[in-house]
Amino acid sequence: MDVVIAGGHGKIAMRLASLLAGQGHTVRSIVRNPDHTDEVSATGARPVVADLESTTAEVLAGQLTGADAVVFAAGAGPGSTAERKESVDRAGAVLLADAAALAAIRRYLLVSSTGVDSEPDPERGAVWVAYIRAKKAAEEAVRGDDRLEATILRPGRLTDDPGTGSVLLAPPPVTRSDVTRDDTAAVLAALLSADHTIGSTLELRAGDVPVAGAVAALQG
Ligand SMILES: NC(=O)c1ccc[n+]([C@@H]2O[C@H](COP(=O)([O-])OP(=O)(O)OC[C@H]3O[C@@H](n4cnc5c(N)ncnc54)[C@H](OP(=O)(O)O)[C@@H]3O)[C@@H](O)[C@H]2O)c1
Repeated sequence: MDVVIAGGHGKIAMRLASLLAGQGHTVRSIVRNPDHTDEVSATGARPVVADLESTTAEVLAGQLTGADAVVFAAGAGPGSTAERKESVDRAGAVLLADAAALAAIRRYLLVSSTGVDSEPDPERGAVWVAYIRAKKAAEEAVRGDDRLEATILRPGRLTDDPGTGSVLLAPPPVTRSDVTRDDTAAVLAALLSADHTIGSTLELRAGDVPVAGAVAALQG
């Protein structure tokens, strides 16, 4: 499979690229900072430089040519502004959808977040509210886009602990808890070839079902 990962220098993306390249897939990783290309190349992926906040769907489509699937693993990140939650977490995901459609790529995995089904707690601040709203709007855009065959993944709070290879993967609602980035990447890799999850929104947590079994067990 030929896969393009947006947010290619991100913590999940780097893990996913290594996994996919190790499985023999062809991987392109979109990075915004050219200084990150060597690190991304070391995963086995081919770096592609593009800033999702300033490129166009047409230019990005040209960089996706030939791919079988795209993964949106970008995010404005901790310490960013409410405006960048909108311009990266929402608009970047929509831009990737538009570019994928122009490049005739249907399979789309969206890394979203747990918590988007509830109204965000204003006491957590304006940036948190903007983050949850941006993730929710991205989900709605991708879910409603009939040019795509999308699966939406909502990890719980991400940790850098070593992966266990086992997870809890289920449609919402699922109680909030953590999951490792290693296990999140493993689930994304498995979802790429799990066509029975097209159209699904899935919550991901630490759990005790091996990843392959957790993905296989989902209802189509
Ligand atoms: N933290 C949590 O507990 C949690 C929980 C659930 C879901 N999530 C979501 O999971 C996703 C991935 O998480 P992660 O930990 O891997 O995030 P991460 O390490 O912050 O990676 C996000 C990547 O997006 C890239 N990016 C930002 N703006 C960009 C732009 N304009 N154009 C291109 N790329 C851009 C960043 O590039 P740079 O490297 O250049 O900054 C970064 O590499 C995010 O969407 C996050 O919201 C997080």
